[in-house]
Amino acid sequence: MTNISPDLPLLDLHRHLDGSVRLQTILELGRKHNLPLPAFDLEGLRPHVQVSTPQPGLLEFLEKFKWMTGVLVDYKACRRIAKENLLDAAKEGIDYIELRFSPWFMAEPHGLDPAGVTEAVVQGVADGVRLTGVQANLIGILSRTYGAEICMKELDALLTQRDHITALDLAGDEGNYPGALFVEHFKRGRDAGWNITVHAGEAAGAESIWQAINDLGATRIGHGVRVDEDPALMETLAKRGIGVEVSLTSNLQTSTVPSYSAHPLKKMLDAGVKATINTDDPGISAIDLKYEYDVAAPRAGLTKQDIRQAQLNALEIAFLDEEAKSDLVIAKVMG
Ligand code: HPA
Ligand code: ZN
Repeated sequence: MTNISPDLPLLDLHRHLDGSVRLQTILELGRKHNLPLPAFDLEGLRPHVQVSTPQPGLLEFLEKFKWMTGVLVDYKACRRIAKENLLDAAKEGIDYIELRFSPWFMAEPHGLDPAGVTEAVVQGVADGVRLTGVQANLIGILSRTYGAEICMKELDALLTQRDHITALDLAGDEGNYPGALFVEHFKRGRDAGWNITVHAGEAAGAESIWQAINDLGATRIGHGVRVDEDPALMETLAKRGIGVEVSLTSNLQTSTVPSYSAHPLKKMLDAGVKATINTDDPGISAIDLKYEYDVAAPRAGLTKQDIRQAQLNALEIAFLDEEAKSDLVIAKVMG
């Protein structure tokens, strides 16, 4: 039995494609290009790449990315991992996925051109969509940890594929690089016609969520865990229909929450916030979307009805027009 409602489309709105590289692919690319991997068999490599217990904080969790971006030796590798993300989403029964990526982060280990990486990701996603029939949109990330100046270059790289990208996001070290540094970047993103979602309220407090909404123009929030600190913020999210992309296991593994049961997702849903269930970095967290629905969500105190509501919320807040949303529902009903 599963908590996924079979009559509704299944959506993942928050998944990093550069945090979702197959262990097998890391091995293959590592072997082929003689990269200094910590192990050259699956079980030896697993503990270096995947997290099974909570890390001290977000930054330690993000360290794991190095084994994923570290194998991106060329544009072909970037295209491959983007395509494999779609194949994996299809296997999970996902009907529509929003995949996000940071071109600077992916380009850095092997000195690639971030615009070339962006193009390769667009091509790989298109390959995967064609092969699987899963629908997808791309979200471009500014990795705040690089600071405002490099993020402006990262934005330029993303803008070379403006029409193939749906939204702009801000990820990375929220504690040390507040959203205030990126106001100009997000103005340019909005002027390009992109939607805005921002990682906020994960490693910083409610004020970071307010800032994302008021100053960056976010219409969705990634994580938003610390909305719990501020009843006025909870009310604002509910009233304005600002969606929250929750990733329960990620929040546990980054020590943003001490346990599933301490997570405020249930409170968000009870307050009428359009909160959703997503994976974040399944390759690092060693989970899939089904695990989040069937194991993590009940542990966070959600009833079956709550989980159905979260699945419905994803359709409501997806970066899709009304016709595309209704087509997803029709396709599901027709099997
Ligand atoms: N927070 C910030 N940046 C990230 C995350 C996250 O949870 N996952 C991947 N990049
Ligand atoms: Zn994320």
